[in-house]
Amino acid sequence: MRKKPLHILILLGSAREDGNSTRLAFAFADAASLQGHAVQSIRVPALAIAPCDGCNRCWKPASVPCALRDDMEAVYPLLRAADVLVFATPLHFYSWSAPLKSLVDRFYCLAPSRKRTLKGKQTLLLATAADDRPAAFAGLQATYRLIAGFMGWKPLGEVLVPGVEKEGDIARSPRFLARAAALGARLR
Ligand SMILES: Cc1cc2nc3c(=O)[nH]c(=O)nc-3n(C[C@H](O)[C@H](O)[C@H](O)COP(=O)(O)O)c2cc1C
Repeated sequence: MRKKPLHILILLGSAREDGNSTRLAFAFADAASLQGHAVQSIRVPALAIAPCDGCNRCWKPASVPCALRDDMEAVYPLLRAADVLVFATPLHFYSWSAPLKSLVDRFYCLAPSRKRTLKGKQTLLLATAADDRPAAFAGLQATYRLIAGFMGWKPLGEVLVPGVEKEGDIARSPRFLARAAALGARLR
């Protein structure tokens, strides 16, 4: 029996045109596309997404999900339609990039206690760092896992690539690219 195609949304956190984390994401995306899944990626730094200002209007009954009017309005429907949310980011000061952080903060109006949520999604973390110590990812990894637990997501895996700094460095880490591709190939 043919498996059902999934909708995969990749949130690219790098501002680099051909960044290491973006290449890692595309290795995953190419393999997932070959399996017949529908993959869409968004370059988050290219969007105007303000950080959540904590106005709490989204907590009021009958209010819009988020009162802020910016590019996030176009992202919300994509998030809700996705079966799989992929976070692909460079490590910036031991966390994900600032544009990605702003986007994630805007999940506030879709928290599990709300009417509309992102519960039940599958998720994946792909990240690259200059530091050659895997422990450099500890903060990002903890943040990602706590968010996945809080949001009610099913984590599919993490590919964390140390020791890649300049654009294109990841080409010298084929085993990590292969690991990302393997995750894409076995998505169900
Ligand atoms: C603002 C900034 C902060 C960074 N912070 C870290 C860091 O905390 N730890 C680290 O190992 N690398 C750090 N890096 C290096 C990047 O994580 C690394 O070059 C990564 O591979 C870039 O991925 P990209 O090409 O997808 O943007 C930083 C780079 C920038 C520009």
